[in-house]
Amino acid sequence: MDPAITEQVLTRYARGDSLDRIRDDLGLTFYCVRKIVRDAGVLRDRNGRSPAAQSGHVAPEFPGLKEYPPDPTELLDFLETAAEQHQKWDTAQREVPVVIATDQPIAVAFRGDWHAGNKNTLYKLLRRDNAIIRDTAGLYTAELGDFCDAFIKPTMQDGAQEALVPVKIQRHYVWASYREYLQGKVLGDVTGQHDHWASQMAAFDPVEWLSHDFKIPYLRHGGTIHLQVGEQQYEIAVRHKARGTSQWNPTHSNIRTLYFDRHYDVVAHADKHIFGIQEVEHEGKHSILVRPGSYKPYDNFSDSHDFGESQPTIPVIIFWPDRHEMQCIRGIEVAADIVSRLRDGGRP
Ligand SMILES: [Fe+2]
Ligand SMILES: [Fe+2]
Repeated sequence: MDPAITEQVLTRYARGDSLDRIRDDLGLTFYCVRKIVRDAGVLRDRNGRSPAAQSGHVAPEFPGLKEYPPDPTELLDFLETAAEQHQKWDTAQREVPVVIATDQPIAVAFRGDWHAGNKNTLYKLLRRDNAIIRDTAGLYTAELGDFCDAFIKPTMQDGAQEALVPVKIQRHYVWASYREYLQGKVLGDVTGQHDHWASQMAAFDPVEWLSHDFKIPYLRHGGTIHLQVGEQQYEIAVRHKARGTSQWNPTHSNIRTLYFDRHYDVVAHADKHIFGIQEVEHEGKHSILVRPGSYKPYDNFSDSHDFGESQPTIPVIIFWPDRHEMQCIRGIEVAADIVSRLRDGGRP
């Protein structure tokens, strides 16, 4: 049968035309019209009932059926308000101005990877460095994450076996170190993946709380510190993990940031536990690229990957307030000595 005729028949039948009327209008036989309607499963009986009604089937009715609200405005407003609240209750920032009003040179130690809690961590050295920072005028730090070892992931139980104390006490160690040694010293905090596991597993960000407690800018995974020292402005990029890390070249990710992002005076990345300093001039501007070592020289994980032992060597950069000048020093002790000698009234 021609599909166009079939469609005409069914359309007319659906609107209530009788089989005889359709037969006459379209010039078909009665049997042909009835076959088309019957094959389509819509043939009504003499009383005009549909096939479903003829079988005695009754379609259900749902007087209490819930429907979506016809007007979505409330939902849209609700999410907009919730997002605004979320922003207000999140203290992390990607950029932060830091002002040190001084006419003296200052020094900033770029540290990371304390790994408090692990049995191999060099606690005496970490405490000594913290004391040097506390006792040296003009010496500051940027803390780049992995404060605690905090092996809380079920897939990392060999790390948990190396814990001297529970994660909660590891966090107290860091908090107490900040209170005893680092008040007024830290220019910015960054989280490491060891810290971030708590965010993943328990929706709790220990570094955000640490930073909030001590009124320190929190840059989460990384960001930019616009550091003003006296009259001079220094652009400092800090991250824990960064794209382009290399086990052969400790400042490879730093120089990629410089080439692919924009000019920074300093690019500081942590995480790999391998100390590195590189100075470059890129597009006519001087930059210092640094990566700190770790206070945890090794653990089962690094041993199993043949990473060898790392050293707790910290890069420290001296910034001048009256001219755009930076010098990088290897190690906190000698940097403290140098910055003290550079400052008026400091050591001769
Ligand atoms: Fe680390
Ligand atoms: Fe890390």
